Amino acid sequence: MKIFIDSADIAEIREGVALGVVDGVTTNPSLVAKTGRKFDEVLADICEIVDGPISAEVTAEDFKGMVEQGRRLAALHPNIVVKAPITYDGLKATRALSDDGIRVNVTLIFQPSQALLAAKAGAAYVSPFVGRLDDISEDGMGLISNLVEIFSNYDYDTEILVASVRSPTHFVDAARMGADVATCPFSVIKTLLSHPLTDLGLKKFLDDWKKVPQ
Ligand code: E4P
Repeated sequence: MKIFIDSADIAEIREGVALGVVDGVTTNPSLVAKTGRKFDEVLADICEIVDGPISAEVTAEDFKGMVEQGRRLAALHPNIVVKAPITYDGLKATRALSDDGIRVNVTLIFQPSQALLAAKAGAAYVSPFVGRLDDISEDGMGLISNLVEIFSNYDYDTEILVASVRSPTHFVDAARMGADVATCPFSVIKTLLSHPLTDLGLKKFLDDWKKVPQ
């Protein structure tokens, strides 16, 4: 399973890449707003650091605006994937941009029918938000299970990009189900590699090492 970092923070992205596990980046308008920087500048910096798909979200809500913005974003760098919401106009824009050869990540997916339509419209990725479903007492990972099953029935090239990942459990379950990608905040990536027994075990080894004559 590929790991994308869900961040617009350059320092975090650089650190994630240095860890050797980051295959791509997802951003969204909220993440970009947190940086206090201009979108194009943030994207330019990310493109210099990461050699993989980098999702950049359109903010226009109408078809024409989405397509214009999507084309402009895609022209910034070959690694840019245009992110568009699964709305009526977003679906039309997905088809138009895909027909132009631009990869589209269809975002804010909360039910299988949305993902299936996005795949039919040529989406390169669909982004189901598991954490936000869990937040309202729905079954986020159940959605992923359904999508893996549905997509395996057909031959869409669309990849299932598990988003709104909040915990190692989300991540491991996504891998067990065969999702293509999980996009995780840097804080979650760090929790993936930690275990209290690792810390305790290392402490014991290092304490014992002090007893070894040097
Ligand atoms: C994915 O592309 C989104 O940016 C992200 O995963 C949303 O996560 P959140 O629900 O934690 O904001």
